[in-house]
Amino acid sequence: MIVLRSQREIEKIRKACLIVTEILECLRERVGPGITTWDLNAVSEELADRKKVKPAFKGYHGYPYALCTSVNEEVVHGMPSRQRHLKEGDIISLDFGVVCEGYYGDAAVTVPVGRIDESAVRLCKVTEESLYEGIRRATLGNRLSDISHAIQEYVEARGFSVVREFVGHGIGQQLHESPQIPNYGPPGKGVKLKEGMVFAIEPMINEGRPEVEILEDHWTAVTVDRRLSAHFEHTIAVTRNGPDILTRK
Ligand code: MF3
Ligand code: CO
Repeated sequence: MIVLRSQREIEKIRKACLIVTEILECLRERVGPGITTWDLNAVSEELADRKKVKPAFKGYHGYPYALCTSVNEEVVHGMPSRQRHLKEGDIISLDFGVVCEGYYGDAAVTVPVGRIDESAVRLCKVTEESLYEGIRRATLGNRLSDISHAIQEYVEARGFSVVREFVGHGIGQQLHESPQIPNYGPPGKGVKLKEGMVFAIEPMINEGRPEVEILEDHWTAVTVDRRLSAHFEHTIAVTRNGPDILTRK
């Protein structure tokens, strides 16, 4: 069942989302050669504390950290580590969520560490643009898979590949609600989009092959070919005036 949220509820979700966005912006400013992913996680916890919200991921299915830090070939769910010092030329996906007064917000960005090469720039750019291509289809009367299809088409036309094993999701009073939102598929399938649906849309896009594997830590997903992967995520609401990006100021 997909919950339809009232405008009042959407404003509650927006409150959580804007805190996520603010914290991701602070984290982005801290990214640079030498900092560890551990430090970034510590900053995220500290900022959540200061804003009196709870990190959404910590404890979720046993995930031990507030933040997911996925570097280079890591696709999603990269775990912060004291040993992982970022270096010039890396890319890092920062994925963060909070719960505020019972409502969740969830977002992710992939950011460069210092100067990165042209192909990494292009991967990040195409991944972010594919997210907006998907969001643009989140309008009344469209169907769920119109979002999925738009992302896949945009990405594959540019020579990159879509990760199949992880998907976007409904969000609201839980981090993961119905429906699942794949980043690939045919157009015109799935439920009709209705006013008040709230989605976390999150393309995970690979430079090379689409396949991923999970490391022995049981969390970190990496590309099988060990080429780069990027990830962007927004929480959005479907409204009569089109998609409303709740994780955007
Ligand atoms: N944005 C990711 C998601 O929606 C992050 C979840 S990490 C987890 O799945 F630890 F909470 F699983
Ligand atoms: Co998510």
